[in-house]
Amino acid sequence: LLFFKVIKCKAAVLWGLKQPFSIEEVEVAPPKAYEVRIKMLATGICHTDYDGTTGTMPARFPEVGGHEGCGVVESIGEGVTSMKPGDKVILLPVPQCGICSSCMHPTSNFCERIDITGRGVLREGTSRFTCKGKTVYNFMNSSTFSEYTVVDEVAAVKIDAAAPAEKVCVIGCGFSTGYGAAINTGKVHPGSTCVVFGLGGVGLSVVIGCKAAGASRIIGIDINPRKFERAKAAGATECINPKDYTKPISEVLKKMTNNSVDYTFEVTGNLDTMMDALASCHMNYGTSIIVGDPPAAATITFDPMLVFTGRTWKGCILGGWKTRDDLPKLVSDFMAKKFDLDHIITHVLPFDKIKDGFNLLHKGESVRTVLTF
Ligand code: APR
Ligand code: ZN
Ligand code: ZN
Repeated sequence: LLFFKVIKCKAAVLWGLKQPFSIEEVEVAPPKAYEVRIKMLATGICHTDYDGTTGTMPARFPEVGGHEGCGVVESIGEGVTSMKPGDKVILLPVPQCGICSSCMHPTSNFCERIDITGRGVLREGTSRFTCKGKTVYNFMNSSTFSEYTVVDEVAAVKIDAAAPAEKVCVIGCGFSTGYGAAINTGKVHPGSTCVVFGLGGVGLSVVIGCKAAGASRIIGIDINPRKFERAKAAGATECINPKDYTKPISEVLKKMTNNSVDYTFEVTGNLDTMMDALASCHMNYGTSIIVGDPPAAATITFDPMLVFTGRTWKGCILGGWKTRDDLPKLVSDFMAKKFDLDHIITHVLPFDKIKDGFNLLHKGESVRTVLTF
């Protein structure tokens, strides 16, 4: 009974569109059936958190933002069997309910519990946050910008207790999104040539995935040349800035590679770069993968000849991982030193400094900022 009390704590609340997150005292109600209350340890600031403030990613206001986090289970609701208080967990912006058509499919991870429309509530239909007497909604099934949060059991998974939260939190979204796009969706093969458009946290994770898959040439592309050094450290064999060329980037790449680009990854979320990435892979055997979130309700008109000649155009959500099955394994792979998350984590700040974290993202100074509680 001791556990089942309302907790008052600090959270970053977004009261409406185009406002900054403000640190407020919120009440976090106890978990209901099939829910868990989590004490947060660390959360990354992902570009999609910013998209949630502009309307690019649908959200319901007021919200507690954040979706890339690691914490410890504080209490569990009735019926929860997969976690107990004290377990270290990663929160899952793409849940795995286990019973929907995607979860039942052997390869799909597009669980219908995913909140792409901005419902902002738990499976039961409400949220557990209140602030100044108002309901505050969840963001992307998680709401990690809070000292405590309540999520559905299917939106969290137990991981190795020894894993450092301030590193593995990025496995909750950015790292896994990029790494899985290369490994699962692209199925990058040894010796191949890959091109990555956008060298933020997700793009660098694509680079790490391409390298792990044995690509022999990995070309990084960004309009911000300050991103090149880290991209090379992560495995990019060369980096170019489209602003340095007058010719279309697809022509530049064709020349650089003697027309042999196997895979291109779009990791900026821009429609123009999506077209550039498609046109940049080989006209017949090339595959282009959309990883960056397209702006909501935007459309592209394209020459079908681009696909008619044989190109493959694909996308993926959270790198195609079935999150509850696969993310604990990625944590184990990290612990076994199969990849290094320091390539993408550039800043670690206390949670109170969340505004500084977003400023670093806007100024292009950070790749990933992790906030610790
Ligand atoms: N061409 C090349 N690079 C670009 C362009 C462009 N037209 N526009 C932006 N970029 C670069 C930025 O300079 C930055 O380095 O893309 C990178 C994006 O990195 P972040 O802002 O750190 O975003 P990240 O967290 O990596 O997410 C990338 O995936 O999850 C989505 O919404 C997210 O669309 C975003 C994308
Ligand atoms: Zn499901
Ligand atoms: Zn994210």
